[in-house]
Amino acid sequence: MNPNKALWEKGDFTRIAESMRESGEALVQKLGITKVLKVLDLGCGDGTTALPEAKLGAEVLGVDIASNLVAAGNQRAKEHGLANCRFQEGDATNLHELKDHSFDLVVSIFGAMFAPKPFDVAREMVRVTRPGGRIVMGNWIPNDPTLVSQILRISSAYTPPPPEGFVSPMTWGIESHVVERFAAAGASKEKVSCVRDTFTFISASSPAVYVDNFRKYYGPTMNAFDAAGQKGRAADLQKELETLFEQHNKSPNKNATLIPATFLRVTVVV
Ligand SMILES: C[S@@+](CC[C@H](N)C(=O)[O-])C[C@H]1O[C@@H](n2cnc3c(N)ncnc32)[C@H](O)[C@@H]1O
Repeated sequence: MNPNKALWEKGDFTRIAESMRESGEALVQKLGITKVLKVLDLGCGDGTTALPEAKLGAEVLGVDIASNLVAAGNQRAKEHGLANCRFQEGDATNLHELKDHSFDLVVSIFGAMFAPKPFDVAREMVRVTRPGGRIVMGNWIPNDPTLVSQILRISSAYTPPPPEGFVSPMTWGIESHVVERFAAAGASKEKVSCVRDTFTFISASSPAVYVDNFRKYYGPTMNAFDAAGQKGRAADLQKELETLFEQHNKSPNKNATLIPATFLRVTVVV
């Protein structure tokens, strides 16, 4: 089994995605989507951004490596009556099933960044975008003080070091790497732009219950808890994450969670 696929099929990312809908919709509103656009949403999960893209009238294909999330996306599109939105399995490192230059817009929000082989990912995203089309990525930023980078920092202290040659997904949050990867894929360096943006996680649960959702349903956090458990340290990890989530919680109601996190929004004009 491909370990990248196994990681994301573990647990149930839909349970975290529920807390990402509002910011997903707000982000899509910024993309200038119109009815005529053909959109590829890569690493789409269960459609947090794909469904809003389709609601704006675009013809949307969601591609994700996790079969459970593809099924959940197709189910959600059906429930919302979106015949212009479908989901299929695929790997961002090799999109052989998709033709060259076949999309006006390729969107990947915290998706393709998690695929291995980042140069292959950039090459595939450029290949399937039509000349004059756009790629928009949302990437978490390494060593950022906000939530997602801090979850990674805490979790990594409990997990064994990655294998030699491992390229951290977080390197997609460093502008120089982004430019290098898209330039190697044939895009012009001047047409790659990066801005910092905010994505807010919103849950009706308290921060402690929200951490528990990560522990039960989010593959990377599940793995961190497995590793911590083997050393008898799962309770320490839980406590550190609860403190982190509580410190970052901006909800006036302390029994609910509202946590803004900074990310790098990358736009490439192909
Ligand atoms: C953090 S989730 C984000 C999902 C969605 N874009 C969202 O904003 O809710 C990361 C997604 O990337 C997908 N993914 C990871 N590696 C992938 C790969 N090699 N090819 C395609 N999708 C991948 C995972 O299955 C998962 O759905």
